[in-house]
Amino acid sequence: MHAQYEITVIIPTFNEEVNIANIIEAVNSILSANNICGEILVIDDESRDKTIRIVQDLTLKFNNLKIIVRHADHGLSQSAVEGFKQANSDIFLVIDADFSHPPVLIPRFYDEIKKGADIVIGSRYTRGGGVKQWPLKRRVLSLGATGMGRILFPGITDPVSGFFALRKEVISGAQLHPRGYKILMEVLGKGRWKSVFEIPFTFTDRQHGESKLTSCIISDYVKQILIITEYSLTSRNNQVWNEWKKIIKFGFVGLSGVLVNIGFLYLFTEYMGLYYIIASIVAIEISILSNFLLNDCWTFKLKDEVDSYTQNRFQRFFSFQCVSIIGLIINIGILYFLTDFFGIYYLVSNLIGIFIVFFWNYLINRHVTWKL
Ligand code: GDD
Repeated sequence: MHAQYEITVIIPTFNEEVNIANIIEAVNSILSANNICGEILVIDDESRDKTIRIVQDLTLKFNNLKIIVRHADHGLSQSAVEGFKQANSDIFLVIDADFSHPPVLIPRFYDEIKKGADIVIGSRYTRGGGVKQWPLKRRVLSLGATGMGRILFPGITDPVSGFFALRKEVISGAQLHPRGYKILMEVLGKGRWKSVFEIPFTFTDRQHGESKLTSCIISDYVKQILIITEYSLTSRNNQVWNEWKKIIKFGFVGLSGVLVNIGFLYLFTEYMGLYYIIASIVAIEISILSNFLLNDCWTFKLKDEVDSYTQNRFQRFFSFQCVSIIGLIINIGILYFLTDFFGIYYLVSNLIGIFIVFFWNYLINRHVTWKL
């Protein structure tokens, strides 16, 4: 059967009476200015204000507009999934009602999908993107959420964006059960896709109404990360599993480096009589070298189908060396900062430092040293 529209713009709403008419008008005029035959689906979760009435009235003016009011299992992500089910096209785009996401970019999303991308993401964290008017707390939370998501989906800078488009095939047959706000994570984790394209945009905090982001939604997010990780490890979604295998191997190599370091420190000090600070510097260097070789030949070993890394082995060693030394400095900085400024017990501060530096080392090495 032929799809009725070229794109379906899904707008989840809850109490958006001040924004909804404007966003519908804006989306419609952008679609028609670009000759895109699109439908607009408003998915509402029983708003208590006039949102539903306003949209119903507008359906008389726009025959490509439809509203679906959900009466159970309320939530932004669940509403997006309902939108996917009800869509009459093969391309879906999700956008907030409150102009946090600029509707003028819709034609670019559409074009990129037409050019071949499976998923197109509006990213706040790629070059050219950003956030405006966010309080510090929200920035920190958002960076934490995107950081966790990036470990699962390396190469994607904003895996928790609420502004994205996808082809229908990506999710056909997938069992989507998202909670909270992070519908895109669910799509990335359970969908079938090969190519993702990111479009930078500046997230502008809403001028009218309130964000519905609560601490409950944040805990839902952490649960969702765990569910998607488990799903990815037990399903055919090899991309995520391969990444976790690399992280685990990188961890083992790091542990082996600690043993090498202690062994050589002992040898140089006890048997060769070297001053312990000098012995320690040499032992650190040897452990960096052994870590590098193990990572190069094991953790990041090239598969047959991949050509080569952008840097040769010497350059990779130099890069690994720099990352390791900066990592050491960060570790000492965190140890000092947490212990002296926050009064945290120094062994605990050290553990936190090791944990953070482990991911720092992994991510930078993965994307710089062993860049394909
Ligand atoms: N149907 C439905 N049900 N819609 C909802 C619900 C709900 O329970 N909660 C919020 N919405 C709608 C709002 O009406 C708005 O259109 C959109 O979802 C975003 O809601 P906000 O509450 O303003 O979101 P935010 O600005 O805090 O969060 C934004 O940034 C996140 C990334 O930091 C959104 O874009 C999220 O999608 C995004 O993940």
